[in-house]
Amino acid sequence: MRGTLIICPDAESVSREAAERFVSAAAEKLSDQRATFAVALSGGSTPRRLYELLAGSPYRSKIPWARVHFFWGDERLVPLDHADSNFRMAHEALLRHVPVQPVNLHPIPTNLPADQAAQAYERTLRAHFGRWGLPKFDLVLLGVGADGHTASLFPGSAALAEKDHLVMPHSRGVNQPARVTLTLPVFNNASHIHFLVTGKPKASALRAALERGTLPVQRVQPKKGELLFLVDAAAAGKLDGVRIEVPVTSEAEP
Ligand code: 6PG
Repeated sequence: MRGTLIICPDAESVSREAAERFVSAAAEKLSDQRATFAVALSGGSTPRRLYELLAGSPYRSKIPWARVHFFWGDERLVPLDHADSNFRMAHEALLRHVPVQPVNLHPIPTNLPADQAAQAYERTLRAHFGRWGLPKFDLVLLGVGADGHTASLFPGSAALAEKDHLVMPHSRGVNQPARVTLTLPVFNNASHIHFLVTGKPKASALRAALERGTLPVQRVQPKKGELLFLVDAAAAGKLDGVRIEVPVTSEAEP
């Protein structure tokens, strides 16, 4: 496995490091004047601060927003203004504050049954990335759940084995909204995959993420792209003695 683990002192510096790397990945792709930059946003609470930073100085002015296309790695099937909506979180923290083109926003539809929403989003990906082959995201942002899930790929989920579909539904049982998630072949075809992991409660999950295994997060292994774990010291608190499959190649200073 190739990749980089960057341990930052705290969650704020993880978010700043992620913002810098978002800007660099966009600049790298958009140096070609005809290019656009396609990013798959993650949900959860961890990336909120990154989104807020991108919406403000100095990052906001460094990104040609009109050439950025926003997709989502996963979504809960709740109304777009619901507290659990990943679209809502990104919209509130980032998208409403920057000059994105509305036509470049590609939210997962949430007004359909999960299987139909997944099919519809697959058509959205095909329309943007082309009919054949795998979509190639320029950047995928991901988080890690305590059980080793990432996006809405949960341990034991049928979607983990998916090789053909780009998008799959996921049902989480009674009283839990159904979800829709991109699949591993799509994530693993990205140019950059950046995991953001912060806080002591994530220490065991991060430890697992960096070891060999079959948890969803362990199966995110880009074929050619960059795999980066941006973590804070609290999340890195249980890494002693771990045979890290992702080599630590850099450490951000406070
Ligand atoms: C979600 C994501 C999920 C998330 C992790 C981490 O929508 O919740 O799909 O995979 O990234 O559960 O969530 P936190 O950032 O809230 O810890």
